[in-house]
Amino acid sequence: MKLNLAVLPGDGIGPEIVEQAMKAVKAVANKFKHELTYEYGLTGAIAIDEVGEPYPEKTHELCMNSDAVLFGAIGDPRFDNDPKAKVRPEQGLLLMRKKLGLYANIRPVETFESLLHKSPLRRELVEGADFVAIRELTGGIYFGEKGRKDGGNTAFDTCTYTREEIERILKLGYDFAMKRNKKLTVVDKANVLESSRLWREVAQEMAPNYPEVKTEYMFVDNAAMQIIQWPKNFDVMVTENMFGDILTDEASVITGSLGLLPSASVGIHTSVFEPIHGSYPQAAGKDIANPIATILSAAMMFEYAFNLPEEGKLIREAVAASMAEKYVTEDIAEGQAYKTSQVGDWIANYIEQN
Ligand code: IPM
Ligand code: MN
Repeated sequence: MKLNLAVLPGDGIGPEIVEQAMKAVKAVANKFKHELTYEYGLTGAIAIDEVGEPYPEKTHELCMNSDAVLFGAIGDPRFDNDPKAKVRPEQGLLLMRKKLGLYANIRPVETFESLLHKSPLRRELVEGADFVAIRELTGGIYFGEKGRKDGGNTAFDTCTYTREEIERILKLGYDFAMKRNKKLTVVDKANVLESSRLWREVAQEMAPNYPEVKTEYMFVDNAAMQIIQWPKNFDVMVTENMFGDILTDEASVITGSLGLLPSASVGIHTSVFEPIHGSYPQAAGKDIANPIATILSAAMMFEYAFNLPEEGKLIREAVAASMAEKYVTEDIAEGQAYKTSQVGDWIANYIEQN
């Protein structure tokens, strides 16, 4: 099969971790005899430095012409403490989401036995937790009308959702629930927000079409609590953009393995696969960052973008083997720690040999 990738390493540790994921991608493509082509593109602070904007048109065209995008991370401390900065790396990410129509962000929340002791929760609460958080990514307050009035002294951001946007994301939620444990939790704030009331209305209309799935409705404040009290009660959670931003950070950290979790952003034109962690600028260039989240994002890419589950499975197996062998980076090492590049080589080598 032809696999045509856009590779966007981005900022901070992005280039190093993406390089390791590409080693795994090449090894798998070789092994299963796929015809792999790929091209690198600029995004984030590095794109601002080189061409003055965080998501240049050239990068957008590259993404539009690709079957999938492998993304590292963006963000640079130079921009963080300057509220007046005219362009910032994060704008690139939002623009990319909008222009590629990446309407769903999918974050599997899984635990790794060997890292459970790093969870902020008691082991018995989190052990075996396994759910998928689906966040709507191109609507809501992130993209609604915003501005200032009263000479700049009043500011507003508007949360807007259309029925179509809600149906599209809920449908994806139900598709996931059907393939998993058949429970869908729709998270909203329907006791206060009109946009949430539309979410709930649409969900209630759709639920009868999925009689096998148990649809549950939960207010976002309660959901924030339930995630830490009973994480094992969730199977598939679906929610709007900003609630999802907050809840998915919360959900990822309870596993104790933030550095290991991948994500997929599914879109109309292509899909983007990236680790959920950020650009970790303090570690950039040091060859110490954990590449596993990005390598697992590549596994998701084979599964979701190419419908090649065997290829994804082999990558997962290689990652699990590296952890079982304790061939890991310093953030999760108990004894000897290995370099980012060494872990990448080990995993690619495992793929070649197995
Ligand atoms: C994320 C990030 C982004 C978001 C930022 C960097 C704009 O936090 O991907 O969750 O808020 O969506
Ligand atoms: Mn976020």
